[in-house]
Amino acid sequence: MDGGIGLPTVRRDATAKATGAARYAADFGHSGTAYAALTLSSVARGRITRIDSAAAEAVPGVQMVLTHRDLNQDLGEETFAMKGGHMQSSFMPMTSDEVRYAGQIVGITIADTMEAAEQAARLLNLEYAAEHASAAIDDPDRKVETEEKSAVSIGDADIAFASAAIRVDHEYTTPAQHHHPMELYATTASWNDGKLTIESPSQWVVGQRAALATIFGIPAEDVHVVSPYVGGAFGCKATLLPHTVLIATAARRLGRPVKLVVPRAAMFTVGSFRPATRNRIKLGADRDGRMVAMIHEAVGQSSAIDHVAFPGTDVTARMYAIPNIRTSESTVATDVNTPGFQRAPAEAPAFFAYESAVDELAVALEMDPIELRLKNEPASDPVTGLPWSSRSLVQCFQRGAELFGWKNRTAGVGSMKTDDGVLIGYGCATATYPSAMAPASAHVSLSADGLLRVRTSAHDVGTGAYTVLGQIAADVLGIADEHVRVELGDSDLPSGPMSGGSITTGSAGSGVHVTAMALRAKLLNVATAENAPFAGHDPATLQLAGGHIVSVDGTAHSLTDILKASSSGSLEASGKWKPEFMEAVMMQQGLLGGMAMEGPVTKTHASFSFGAQFAEVRIDPLLRTIRVSRMVGVFACGKIINPRTARSNLAGGMVWGASFALLEETKVDRPRARFANQDLVGYHVSTCADIGEVVVETIDETDAFVNAIGAKAVGEIGIVGMPAAIANAVYHATGIRVRKTPIVIESILTP
Ligand code: MOS
Repeated sequence: MDGGIGLPTVRRDATAKATGAARYAADFGHSGTAYAALTLSSVARGRITRIDSAAAEAVPGVQMVLTHRDLNQDLGEETFAMKGGHMQSSFMPMTSDEVRYAGQIVGITIADTMEAAEQAARLLNLEYAAEHASAAIDDPDRKVETEEKSAVSIGDADIAFASAAIRVDHEYTTPAQHHHPMELYATTASWNDGKLTIESPSQWVVGQRAALATIFGIPAEDVHVVSPYVGGAFGCKATLLPHTVLIATAARRLGRPVKLVVPRAAMFTVGSFRPATRNRIKLGADRDGRMVAMIHEAVGQSSAIDHVAFPGTDVTARMYAIPNIRTSESTVATDVNTPGFQRAPAEAPAFFAYESAVDELAVALEMDPIELRLKNEPASDPVTGLPWSSRSLVQCFQRGAELFGWKNRTAGVGSMKTDDGVLIGYGCATATYPSAMAPASAHVSLSADGLLRVRTSAHDVGTGAYTVLGQIAADVLGIADEHVRVELGDSDLPSGPMSGGSITTGSAGSGVHVTAMALRAKLLNVATAENAPFAGHDPATLQLAGGHIVSVDGTAHSLTDILKASSSGSLEASGKWKPEFMEAVMMQQGLLGGMAMEGPVTKTHASFSFGAQFAEVRIDPLLRTIRVSRMVGVFACGKIINPRTARSNLAGGMVWGASFALLEETKVDRPRARFANQDLVGYHVSTCADIGEVVVETIDETDAFVNAIGAKAVGEIGIVGMPAAIANAVYHATGIRVRKTPIVIESILTP
């Protein structure tokens, strides 16, 4: 069967991953590699006053002990990612005696073995002059800084709210969370003739190449970033982390390759995290359930180093047809490492708040929560008035309600009890995710033996990009999937986008599509050239299917025969794609590793994926357990290139959502201003045993505006509505409204 768009093609990388042939960053080896270990600060804020490295240096096999005293200060300045650069934070550890957060890298020990490096790291003794620090978003001595970057103001929301017949007004809070992909951060750096090679898991090898070139003052072509497989990222591998820079510095000084694998405990502090949030939502409606006012005040945790905000208010403001909207965003500066992207960074916490509030409004109105949402469905984007590129939320709710059995829900709280006293609750919520776009380039070739090769530096972070990008090219050329090879995750490949913000399929896929179209045109030229099998035919009348070119009269010649008959024997094409309204100069910057994005709102359309999510919870008062027994999600994400990998992304997102709702919390040790968790025993994520039935469907959607292939965001939307759907189900089961995640049994039942 031909490979192609819409087929449930099995992951191209499945066998390599299952057999261990797939090489992750830490699997790369170089002869003469030395191993590094980290020493982390034991205070949250202050200065290093004394360093005693004698015991560390005396460990047999130790090659080098680095602290801020030893590091040369000639590193070039690279900018913080949120200010147009690539760094996870604008603070570079080990370039001064300053400590800005607990668990900051303050020393690196390098030895012939990992064991010796770790022993030395433990023996490296630092003393500090500590200052008062705070790591909690609700610390009263931390000032709230108000920003108006994405504030929305339509009509007069305060007056409309004050005079609304039905009102709800509550604050919802979510804690700090950490990504915790299975694959740890890892970096191997090696230098050869002034050229740097980095093996490190990355969502953006071209961005990292640009940043490392700036930092080390060398041309970008002398930097090679390799990341063919990524064992989960969830946002934490999108920016350049300080340890990668420090390991590259150490390798240059030592004159040997240096490898660091960051231990799980350090994953809580050496990279980014999802900041804690407080969202106050006010919703007003008339007695018929027409929403008249919405006010969303978002407060997010930031670091004292950088201003970072993921308020999500520009997304909540677009959900319903409300004539009066006001949103605001603020941050609280805390003494932690700078937060960053994590699994629908803005949308997941904001929608826990907003979609809980919508459910509270439905309760106040004594109205079915789906009916309330459908009654307020906007015909166009409420913020700009622009048309949606596509929006099938109503269909998602209709189909989702059917699949879930929403009609079996009895409205009264606690009304769905089993005979043995288990409380059952049904909840639902809207999900959405913006479909932003970045430029992408690709190279596609067809060899004489009929093998189709697709190359771009985009990433498969476990999402299926290896499979999907091959399908897009195979679709254009009518080639069977087993004849397709895809290369990704290497900065020497044609530049692809950052794999973040759920943009890979739409953006890299569009790059691959236009490049495959160029190859198709070349192939048809060859096929219709003088003395070629289709000499004299109009190329526009020829079809490509089953590895053949077929004319209207049914004559078929295989691609290999056509290529063999041609002088070149093989064909290749390079191509690039940019979002419609992006300037050419911006595309160029993007392809060189700069941040270049368009959307989700362009000059003509607002492009978002939408979904309806449902949860059934079962609360056992005797066993004191909250279980999510069933989840249903129906999503509309434009063209679904591969229903199997799309389902896997969406179901995975829903599992994250259950994890968000019931388990995930990075605890703050307030007196010491540090994250208390050290491992996955204390930081809970959903496992198979926590998850019941997961049902996912997609609605067929044609989106002619969003990009060259009509594919909207799939990667992150699955998490967005789930926490609220679960909280709403908990309310339905118990009559208790929990406005804080994680929802633990103590929130519902007295001990
Ligand atoms: Mo994802 S949190 O946009 O890398």
